[in-house]
Amino acid sequence: TDKPRPVLTVSPSWLSPGASVTLNCEVEHPSAGWSFYWYKAVPDLSEKSSSYELLPDGSGTAQDSYIIHGQTHTAGYVCRAGRGDPEYHTDHTQPKFVWSADVHSAASLTVSPDRVQHFTSDSVSLTCEGNFTEWRVRKFSEDGRLYSDCRRMTGSTCNINTSKSDTGVYWCESGSGEFSSAVNITVQNDGNGPILVSPVHPVTEGASVSLSCSLKTQKILSNVFFYHNDKLIQNDPRGELNISAVSKSDEGFYKCQYSGRESAQSWMSVKGEQDQNI
Ligand SMILES: *[C@@H]1O[C@H](CO)[C@@H](O)[C@H](O)[C@H]1NC(C)=O
Ligand SMILES: *[C@@H]1O[C@H](CO)[C@@H](O)[C@H](O)[C@H]1NC(C)=O
Ligand SMILES: *[C@@H]1O[C@H](CO)[C@@H](O)[C@H](O)[C@H]1NC(C)=O
Repeated sequence: TDKPRPVLTVSPSWLSPGASVTLNCEVEHPSAGWSFYWYKAVPDLSEKSSSYELLPDGSGTAQDSYIIHGQTHTAGYVCRAGRGDPEYHTDHTQPKFVWSADVHSAASLTVSPDRVQHFTSDSVSLTCEGNFTEWRVRKFSEDGRLYSDCRRMTGSTCNINTSKSDTGVYWCESGSGEFSSAVNITVQNDGNGPILVSPVHPVTEGASVSLSCSLKTQKILSNVFFYHNDKLIQNDPRGELNISAVSKSDEGFYKCQYSGRESAQSWMSVKGEQDQNI
């Protein structure tokens, strides 16, 4: 059937602590007297998908947008629309997510080796941490698809033999409905080029951080160029970019260049000292 299916957009995609999240439910023929229904996704490991729970005052709103205040954790949402009497309902949208990088939540995801970028055919493990017995690892890929299966899950660890299609955002969902913090993973395109070695989790203001550049065969120890938001910032003879006290202005995209080849760029996120206990 060609039942209309609305499209949900969620913004922002990544949370800053305590931010508001705006959901928008877009349906064909927007002027045609639709009302809107808003749900949050509740992880259900017995299903391939999730179940949905109505949000407060989320039943049959006239507005095609819904604002959530003070969101602190990774969460998923769906909407649907209805009109007429008796009311005709569209299908639910695909779930959309807002991700939190906050590792202080009850559940978190760690990556080993602990870096955003990885070579192809690397073994990378993603481990769900928190006091829960059952987990699944979810991925939102670069082409916008949602995956709910880890092909090789051992206990709470998902082991990946990386290929380009493993690039995406990853998080864990527990059997009791908790969402973990989320991380970006980037698998390199150019097998002979360097990768940037940068932290997976946000760096706290005032802490020190060291970025480096690596080839599949070895860490590069000299003549590396580092770029911050596409601007050359350093050509360090030791091949490392050391920041002794990170500030908010250090946040942004980084990449490295070695021997004429560039790594992909990765976001380094900086969190305020005051955000630590949220
Ligand atoms: C992931 O990457 C996006 C930009 O592509 C960035 O906005 C977000 O903060 C990153 N998340 C983490 C945890 O670094
Ligand atoms: C990963 O996959 C590649 C190519 O398919 C294979 O050569 C390699 O042995 C695999 N590595 C692991 C650790 O499974
Ligand atoms: C883990 O969860 C169990 C069951 O809910 C609880 O009894 C136990 O105290 C928890 N342990 C920690 C370290 O939080």
